[in-house]
Amino acid sequence: MTGDPRTYSSTGGVAIPSVHGILSPPIAFDPPEHTAYRKIIQRQFTRQGAARYEPLLRRLVRDRLTELIDEGSADVIPALARYLPPMAIAAILGLPPEDGERFVEWTTRLLVTAAAGDRAENERVAREFTSYLSAHLDGERDEETVIGAIGKGRFDGRPLTSQERLYMVLLLVIAGHETTVHSIGTMIYHIATVEGLKDRLIADPALIPNMIDESLRMEAPVVSVARTVRGGADLSGQKLDDAERVLLVLASANRDPATFERAGEFVCPRSRNPHVAFGSGIHRCLGEHLARLEMRIVAEELLAMAPRYHLADGYRPEWTIGPVVRGLTTLPVIFHQR
Ligand code: HEM
Repeated sequence: MTGDPRTYSSTGGVAIPSVHGILSPPIAFDPPEHTAYRKIIQRQFTRQGAARYEPLLRRLVRDRLTELIDEGSADVIPALARYLPPMAIAAILGLPPEDGERFVEWTTRLLVTAAAGDRAENERVAREFTSYLSAHLDGERDEETVIGAIGKGRFDGRPLTSQERLYMVLLLVIAGHETTVHSIGTMIYHIATVEGLKDRLIADPALIPNMIDESLRMEAPVVSVARTVRGGADLSGQKLDDAERVLLVLASANRDPATFERAGEFVCPRSRNPHVAFGSGIHRCLGEHLARLEMRIVAEELLAMAPRYHLADGYRPEWTIGPVVRGLTTLPVIFHQR
């Protein structure tokens, strides 16, 4: 079974080709190390843990939408989808709210310079950002926050080293950013383009969580995850050797007609939706509840504040082409009534 970490290990990295920088705890470890690392930050990421940040995130979304609606139109990928996830990560980490905008700037610069292959600038920004994070990891700690939990956390009976602490934080910054940017962008697109969906959600906002799952199923933000075979395996009759790498294509599993009726159609409400957009098994996404919260707040506020929003005339979706994450490059939205 591909869910067994003894045969399908994460220690060789979870992306093909390898993505530099995500060999961090807990994602690139197998049990027992994985279990011990994950336990340190698990409580902050439960549904209740994430819910603590709902008032702050809702206020940020309302303020941002008020500005955008005033302007009449906006590309909501940079203006909204790229704004909220770093603000949410900064909040759950326990960084001062007034640093939120700087945090957005750093994380965006890191991604932009990496994508442009500008190594010197990428390293400069990374140094500045990690020294900022390290200062917080060494400073005062509120134990309810992730930085507090990491500071208090123990591994094998000892406190975490400064490198372990920094890598855990960096993983959260990376894992929770681009994934959630795309999940928000794609959801706004689906609400605008799936026949009758917007009206159904306005009439019955309780359908929003069901719509969120269907949006994640239809366009999985994380296209695939990888594992490394340990000791050889037999996968449905296919022999795999030790150290062979295996790619699990989540986007494909999410459209499997053996699991989903009308697999290629956006169905809302869908009565059973066992999609794997957040993975499955012991590595299932730790930030799932935070990501769902961000998506729900955006959907609720957008539908309440700009129920008539629509996409710019002639818009054709263009998807990012990357081995791991996938989403829309632009999404021009008109807020005013037609
Ligand atoms: C819609 C947005 C998101 C999607 C689609 C997503 C998807 C995934 C997937 C597929 C995995 C499994 C990786 C594997 O099996 O190797 C994963 C793991 C993980 N995600 Fe997310 N993610 C999202 C948002 C977030 C957020 C907001 C955070 C935190 C701020 C986060 C933190 C993590 C962590 C720490 C892991 C590793 C868990 C472990 O190894 O035990 N993710 N995510």
